[in-house]
Amino acid sequence: PARMNMADHGGSLHHHTNHASMISVEDLKGPQSGTPDRMFTLSAQTMKRTTLSGELEEVWAFNQLIPGPELRVQEGELVEVKLVNIDIDEGVTLHWHGLNVPNGEDGVAGLTQDAVLPGGQHTYRFIANQTGTYWYHSHQQSSVQVAKGLYGVLIVEPQASNEAKNVDLAVMSHGQGTSNGTTITLGSLGELQRVLVNPGTSVRLRLINARNMPQSFHLSGVQFRVTAIDGIDLHEPQLISGQKLLLAAGGRYDLSFQMPTGAVGLAHSTDFITDHSDALVLASNNKDLPPPFQQESTFDPAAYGTPSSVPFDAETNYDRSYTLVLDNRVGFYNGKLTNLQTINGYVFPHTPSLMVREGDIVKVKFVNRGFMDHPMHLHGHHILVLSRNGTAVTGSPWWTDTLNVAPGETYETAFAADNPGLWMDHCHNLDHAAAGMSMHLMYE
Ligand code: C2O
Ligand code: CU
Repeated sequence: PARMNMADHGGSLHHHTNHASMISVEDLKGPQSGTPDRMFTLSAQTMKRTTLSGELEEVWAFNQLIPGPELRVQEGELVEVKLVNIDIDEGVTLHWHGLNVPNGEDGVAGLTQDAVLPGGQHTYRFIANQTGTYWYHSHQQSSVQVAKGLYGVLIVEPQASNEAKNVDLAVMSHGQGTSNGTTITLGSLGELQRVLVNPGTSVRLRLINARNMPQSFHLSGVQFRVTAIDGIDLHEPQLISGQKLLLAAGGRYDLSFQMPTGAVGLAHSTDFITDHSDALVLASNNKDLPPPFQQESTFDPAAYGTPSSVPFDAETNYDRSYTLVLDNRVGFYNGKLTNLQTINGYVFPHTPSLMVREGDIVKVKFVNRGFMDHPMHLHGHHILVLSRNGTAVTGSPWWTDTLNVAPGETYETAFAADNPGLWMDHCHNLDHAAAGMSMHLMYE
């Protein structure tokens, strides 16, 4: 039987019919007719493998790969993904993190579908109408299943596809990544991965943090631009170098640069000039190593790029306004004494929902009164960051789907309620989500 983790869902499909009775469940699904432009099958399965220390351990994989196969599609394509569960007893789903698909395709077990049990399957259909870097993962007992390997990259390329000489690589940070032959994994291999790139080539690196804590990335040997955050392009980003990139759990940064004559390195640590480092090296040959990383500052997404028009700001009359105070306290959860992660003092499913009507412009203020980072992830919508600690964003419009709210920080954000359904809003430190820091966004 499917064991349900409270933090993953907590509702049942009855919520739909009670609270969203104006909208039929059919309306919340992706296109049910039409021939798909891309079809994929992802089969979830247990696997045994030997750890670096020689022990046999069980991991869970899609198509026997960790990360799962890298899915690349083009903007506007009708995508069909068949999920097959071979033998994951707890059941699995597929959630398209950051891609604002129709609610019925969102893959949240117990909320938008039932978990797919062993021997079962489920087909997702959606039109890929946002370009950018996304990822997919199981959303049944996420804190366990993502850690065990049920995750992968999803990229939506613009229709006018780039010249063939470009290098475009996704780099995922995860503690269990091995290699799927396409996606680069950082943080678990303990070796230098080398990709040959000719000088002058335009390079795009898509960084994805699939871990529970913010991760530092250091890019050395080249000046670069951060061209997108959470899949959304930044407006006129400047060339930078020597800035540490601190990426929220669940978040993505796209980096672009022209390949120089020397080597370029990317690593979590600042020391990636030895062969034993867990690092990606781009070079035109098999021996060059990148120069050491010289840190000048930490990249600040609130003050980077060039301002541009936004659909709402501090002056907007918001239809709804919510404040979410993030904190923790000791208490019982799922029958265990634990460090509860709370929103406005509540743990899921007792947390009152964010209620909206379709068409509302909604303001959400996040306040972190605890002592841990909380990367807050809203499903189905991108949010615009208005201010941090009372200071307005001064650079490019900063849209995000996973906003790291550090201890003591306050963010004001806003979004358009334009994707009806019942959605999750939760901390993407998935252990925190499993300890209560989860809530619903519900369309009335
Ligand atoms: Cu990436 Cu609700 O998850
Ligand atoms: Cu958290």
